[in-house]
Amino acid sequence: MKLIFLGPPGAGKGTLAARAAPMLTVPHISTGNIFRSAIAAKTPLGLKVKSVIDSGGLVDDETTIALVRERLAQDDAASGYILDGFPRTTAQAQALAGFSQVDKVVNFDIPDSGVIERLGGRRTCRGCGANFHTAFKRPSQEGVCDACGGELYTRDDDSEGAVKKRLEVYREQTAPLIDYYRKQGLLVDIDARPNADEVVEIFRKSLGL
Ligand code: AP5
Ligand code: MG
Repeated sequence: MKLIFLGPPGAGKGTLAARAAPMLTVPHISTGNIFRSAIAAKTPLGLKVKSVIDSGGLVDDETTIALVRERLAQDDAASGYILDGFPRTTAQAQALAGFSQVDKVVNFDIPDSGVIERLGGRRTCRGCGANFHTAFKRPSQEGVCDACGGELYTRDDDSEGAVKKRLEVYREQTAPLIDYYRKQGLLVDIDARPNADEVVEIFRKSLGL
């Protein structure tokens, strides 16, 4: 199954994708995770995108589209994938339609207050990118990732100013994709407010899994 996870920052896209991908035996492809790995490894891509990501802006369409086009050409994505955080602009959605046909677009419905609460307490693993939360998903050992033992840190773009900007950017550039995909009959709305286990169940039922 070829899925897009669409929703505001902090909606829980990465958290649900990490659980849904093994369920569907498809790769979880997060453009944000790919950019953060590149930044950590100080590759040319990482150096190019670091400042725009830290400030909460969007990486340019050309760079992002080329990256996703290349990733989807890999064998493991041939029969399905979860695209988490792409497309984020109409230009990206139009480009994607030129190289892959998605089956459904899962739209995460959550108010700004929920987003702010989730991002305020998020801790991310430097090693594998797994997400934790100071209240909703505490690691067994403070500051240490349960999955790989890596160090947990607060993303630079989870600062108050960057979150505000990310929400603005989402409203202006990404939210129009809700109608874009609804008109194509591809949209599935899910209530992203309940806890993570409940959201998994809502997702399964909504997709008839
Ligand atoms: P990206 O990494 O995609 O960030 P984002 O869209 O802002 O989304 P987040 O990762 O912040 O949130 P999420 O929805 O994954 O929530 P999570 O599961 O972590 O992108 C980062 C940056 O990269 C962008 O700003 C941009 O600069 C660039 N970029 C990426 N893609 C791009 C593109 N296509 N074009 C241009 N630029 C691009 O959950 C959040 C927290 O809540 C966690 O702590 C989690 O434990 C907790 N939580 C999750 N679900 C629940 C739940 N149900 N109940 C309680 N807590 C929960
Ligand atoms: Mg994420």
